[in-house]
Amino acid sequence: MVAEKPPMALVLGLESSCDETAVALVDNDGNIIAHHLATQEILHRPYGGVVPEIAARAHVERLEPLIRKVLDESGKNLSDVDAIAATAGPGLIGGVMVGLVTGKALSLACNKPLIAINHLEGHALTPRLADQSLSFPYLLLLISGGHCQILLVKNVGEYRRLATTIDDAGGEAFDKTAKILGLGFPGGPAVEQEALKGDPTAVPLPRPLVRSKEPHFSFAGLKTAVLRAHQSGLYKREDIAASFQQAVIDCLVNRSEKALRKIESENTAINAFVIAGGMAANQAIRPALTALAEAHNLPFVTPAPWLCTDNGAMIAWAGIERFRLGMIDTLDSPARARWPLDPHAEKARGAGVKA
Ligand code: KG4
Ligand code: ZN
Repeated sequence: MVAEKPPMALVLGLESSCDETAVALVDNDGNIIAHHLATQEILHRPYGGVVPEIAARAHVERLEPLIRKVLDESGKNLSDVDAIAATAGPGLIGGVMVGLVTGKALSLACNKPLIAINHLEGHALTPRLADQSLSFPYLLLLISGGHCQILLVKNVGEYRRLATTIDDAGGEAFDKTAKILGLGFPGGPAVEQEALKGDPTAVPLPRPLVRSKEPHFSFAGLKTAVLRAHQSGLYKREDIAASFQQAVIDCLVNRSEKALRKIESENTAINAFVIAGGMAANQAIRPALTALAEAHNLPFVTPAPWLCTDNGAMIAWAGIERFRLGMIDTLDSPARARWPLDPHAEKARGAGVKA
């Protein structure tokens, strides 16, 4: 019997949780009808990092024109849209409030349901936008600027966190390394470019936690080691960048391997090993993790780089996933600075603030 095709749905997605203002219109089949993004790089560059107040103000100015642009370009108006999806957290609270309140206003004005999206769920489900054959459950390495987690993605809204970072996120480590090396902002792509010129074996750097039993991450010690290597004056900048990137890759592979073994030992069947989040855009990280998936006889899935870093399509797509399951929200949905995907996850030993 041929499965019945779900009815067509069109969702407008709004993203404003960090320094990208982004809007997209996505349909049920995973077609990105239109998308636009306004980056705030220039505004934050003088400070070497995202300034929350500046980010929130920029979202206020940019969001409405981007919505207009996306609708105009797609030849649609708000009455054609089935739901409004807006990031409701986690993130910089000022920016989250701008996007969420805009989503609520559109929902109210057009009488369309609001879907309050967890930004991390946006990253977690985007691989299913990129690869429509990807089905639950899958093991996800979520590596972004604020989070570094390994999650069993069981279904929409159902996550089991196997690992998290006990200090910095991986993307944060890239950003701090870029700052130490004077490579500017944003750090991830800058370190990746610098690393292309360097020798990944030139600088001895630690691989934190690689011997620990649980598959958690730690990057704070690595960042300190990068600082020491730089201050020693013994190494070339490109060699430090390449050695740092290699250390991160080794940690990601080692920790993911640990999580895969854990899942296998529990006889939990999974359909793929998946990576998502801004750091997954890194072209050196991808091959190492592809090889790991292959070694475990699993398909490797990752979205195109632009869908790994923050964008509107990931929020619209998470909206589609929720809308077709009838998961809509009320207009009193809160904006949340913290919002773990697995609220029941045990605290990692030594863990500070990362949810
Ligand atoms: O997912 P994302 O766009 O925003 C958050 O939700 O945090 O991730 C941004 C993070 C930043 O720390 C950035 O430096 C990192 O992802 N990143 C990269 C690359 N592109 C972005 N890290 C390493 N290599 C890259 N090519
Ligand atoms: Zn993100």
